[in-house]
Amino acid sequence: MISGIQKIISRPSMNQQRFLMKEIKSAKNLDQIFNDKQYLERCEFIMSQYDHKNGKLKVIDYSICEQQSWKSVFQSYRQIIQNHACEEIQNAFYTLNQKLSFQEDQIPQLAKISEIFNELNGWKIRPVPGLISDQDYLEALSNKVYCSTQIIRRPQDVEFSPYPDYIHDLLGHIIPIANRDISNKLNKIGCLSVNVDNEQLEQIAFIYWKVFEMGFMKDKKGQYKALGGAVLSSHRELMNIYNQEVSIKHIRDFQMVKKNVQDESLQKEYYYIDSLDDIDEVLENLQQSWSSNKNNSAIADFHFQFDHSDQNKMQKLTL
Ligand SMILES: [Fe+2]
Repeated sequence: MISGIQKIISRPSMNQQRFLMKEIKSAKNLDQIFNDKQYLERCEFIMSQYDHKNGKLKVIDYSICEQQSWKSVFQSYRQIIQNHACEEIQNAFYTLNQKLSFQEDQIPQLAKISEIFNELNGWKIRPVPGLISDQDYLEALSNKVYCSTQIIRRPQDVEFSPYPDYIHDLLGHIIPIANRDISNKLNKIGCLSVNVDNEQLEQIAFIYWKVFEMGFMKDKKGQYKALGGAVLSSHRELMNIYNQEVSIKHIRDFQMVKKNVQDESLQKEYYYIDSLDDIDEVLENLQQSWSSNKNNSAIADFHFQFDHSDQNKMQKLTL
């Protein structure tokens, strides 16, 4: 148990290089999802390309099919960036685009992006074998590391992939790191996860999920702009907020969530922030609730039901 955000933020995190070399196991095997021998072999080959003993990425020679998947999703993503992404995400894309020059007929190499980030803001990217635990994921953020898969979805899964893929990770999570304010918040969330108990870890993962997977930013005109990885990389998820049955609330109101999250592929409830500073407020409230729990030995308002079906949805992609 930890109380006091200052203590957490100033706590030295694991050495970045050590984290890059750490062996990270998959939380779910690919063959539990796919029965496609050729695809499974391809995934196994791509995953074997990372030299985790030295923390070194290799250039992946992507196939024509994989290039087609990228092209299809990237064309849609360009429209989302121009018309629906929040300012911070647009800035992140333009910053990275200046250095990388995104092409729709060429999948950007993770090795190159990691090099660019290292010079830009000290972050690094490391590949992982698909689904990983919340603990590994958040620990990476505390070390300014983003864990990404390098597997590309099959062309038949362009609309929806049941397994994390590089396209989603790149467009939804890696590009935003090029914005310093976003990368600082990600690092702060990661630092908060160090040495917490399982329930606290779930709560941090829940905040991460609501903001950086499904979240929106309300702009000065009162319009909701995409911030989270799923809404940035999914036109279907993005447009879902215009569904009359869907509600959108400020992230500070997530404390009131007591019910289980529905298990449909599209969300029925989204959260927004007015600025990235709202995340600080939510994290501080979370820590205060931990202190309150500790002092009063009572269940505080922050003790919400965490539905693991929502956690499973973290692992789904909708495009
Ligand atoms: Fe995601």
